[in-house]
Amino acid sequence: MCGIVGYIGKNEAVPVLLDGLGRLEYRGYDSAGVTVVSQGKLKTTKAVGRLAKVGELLKQNPLPGTVGIGHTRWATHGRPSDRNAHPHQDCSKKFSVVHNGIIENYQELKEELQEKGHIFSSETDTEVIPHLIEEFYDGDLASSVRKALARMVGAFAIAVLDEAHPDTIVVARKQSPLIVGLGEGENFVASDIPAILPYTREIYILEDGEMAVVKAGEILVTDFTGKPVAKEVFHVEWDVEAAEKGGYEDFMLKEIHEQPRAIRDTLSGAIDRQTKQVVLSRVNFPEGFIKNLSRIHVVACGTAYHAGLVGKYVIEKMLRIPVDVEVASEFRYREPLVQPGSLTIVISQSGETADTLAGLREAKRLGSRILAITNVVGSSVAREADDLILTLAGPEIAVASTKAYTTQLLALYLLAIYMAQEKGVIEEEERVKLIDAIAELDTKLEKVLNTETKIKEFVEDFKHCENIFFIGRGLDYAVSLEGALKLKEISYIHAEAYAAGELKHGTLALIVEGVPVFALVTQEDLYEKMISNIKEVKAREATVVALAMAGDHETSKSVDYVLHIPQTHPMLTPILSVVPLQLFAYYAAKARGCDVDKPRNLAKSVTVE
Ligand code: AGP
Repeated sequence: MCGIVGYIGKNEAVPVLLDGLGRLEYRGYDSAGVTVVSQGKLKTTKAVGRLAKVGELLKQNPLPGTVGIGHTRWATHGRPSDRNAHPHQDCSKKFSVVHNGIIENYQELKEELQEKGHIFSSETDTEVIPHLIEEFYDGDLASSVRKALARMVGAFAIAVLDEAHPDTIVVARKQSPLIVGLGEGENFVASDIPAILPYTREIYILEDGEMAVVKAGEILVTDFTGKPVAKEVFHVEWDVEAAEKGGYEDFMLKEIHEQPRAIRDTLSGAIDRQTKQVVLSRVNFPEGFIKNLSRIHVVACGTAYHAGLVGKYVIEKMLRIPVDVEVASEFRYREPLVQPGSLTIVISQSGETADTLAGLREAKRLGSRILAITNVVGSSVAREADDLILTLAGPEIAVASTKAYTTQLLALYLLAIYMAQEKGVIEEEERVKLIDAIAELDTKLEKVLNTETKIKEFVEDFKHCENIFFIGRGLDYAVSLEGALKLKEISYIHAEAYAAGELKHGTLALIVEGVPVFALVTQEDLYEKMISNIKEVKAREATVVALAMAGDHETSKSVDYVLHIPQTHPMLTPILSVVPLQLFAYYAAKARGCDVDKPRNLAKSVTVE
């Protein structure tokens, strides 16, 4: 989750570096810094804290120069501090390096280099890189970097400056994302597209094991052995506004309101309008794969995991095939029982979450076919999967995932219908009814967004709460988990989701007068059961907010607050019912003065374990 930006060209580097790093702040960080080739020397300014502090230091002591690299650090090895901030240098101060990822064998390398007389000034794993380059330096920067790379074990995206080659930036990628932006007489490097969008939309997406020698007028991409690699230019469709707040106070609110458009875009091209069949252009199951499929695994983290739980209900209901949903950090280490011929669905907004990527690789190693659902086309998860469903949500900048979640749900619905078509287990009438209902989701989401007014009013009653419970059954339980996570991660109110039928097995002991309980009551076949659970908590004087279907006037008689969502196919309610929970979390966080887009301790893309 560190951010990397580099510039080489005809303009001053510092403004481009600071602007680019500013567009990556959402990735979460605790320190920042830049190195510029200035009057023939490598000059570095770095500090713990916000990027603005580095900006202030650069105003006091400017670094003129047209070549530079910059970094925002999210600490993994070594606490947040000035000396642990990147860029890092070697003993001679001739090399400067920024890095995203983890050098797993850094202790061994550090000891080896110290025995050779290298002096280290930080606690970071990164600092071994400039010292390795110094150790292997043979006058050619790229070959020296390659020798250093050969010793490094782990995940990394790096950018390197060498005082003796002031017209060059060398970059390399292994697991952590890195792109090269193509300009006119200038070029850029970055860990993520928004950083360089104002300057270029033509980019090279580096693959694992690729590096690039970047000069103002040329870019040479090779593998780690120095063998040239032909790269296709990727044209970025996102406009700058798409990565800006677009008039909303926070990225999160903008992204909540973008959901109708995100659903529309994700749906576009996935339905054959004539046959009303699902068409998934990047899913190419072998002949008979679905017919012989006996088990499906879902591997993800956080919100993506919650989407997987909804997928489980839907796929099992439609295909009658068992679906195991597991958090990636557990799956990857427990020798999972994955058989060849199974399907593993990997869900990841960023497509770079370390645990999820490791889960993908483990399932692949065990012979499972991998289908990725991700929001980033060039991401590692996207490129390592056999099949791909892209959520076209556009860049999700806020740490709290919203539009990615609802588009992940849509992708799972489309996949379930597609597999049911392939397996021949869905009647045409049921399929057409579902697809017609899906086609209306964007307009129904617009209606659900109108609950915002009511939520803004009653959120004041909850902003001082210490604990809030979410309860539901079936699909509503899966959505409750997501509602609880949203509230926790941005308002810092402790929230817990519970299967409503489980309350009496312990948690009911916590329900006393005034304790807030959100009760999701969208599933017709479980309605009576949910009404009794509501009565169960009301009997303990809880304050109950119900989330009910439009036209349900019964529920409101038993609760303190009620929010209605438009009628839709019972299987599709999660795409609608999650939105009031997202809005409640957002306005509760605002009421408590929290930093909604960048909550404490969290990062947008968890690219380390
Ligand atoms: C969601 O609100 C959180 N920010 C977090 O749980 C996130 O969903 C998780 O880290 C997975 O990220 P991914 O979808 O990019 O893999």
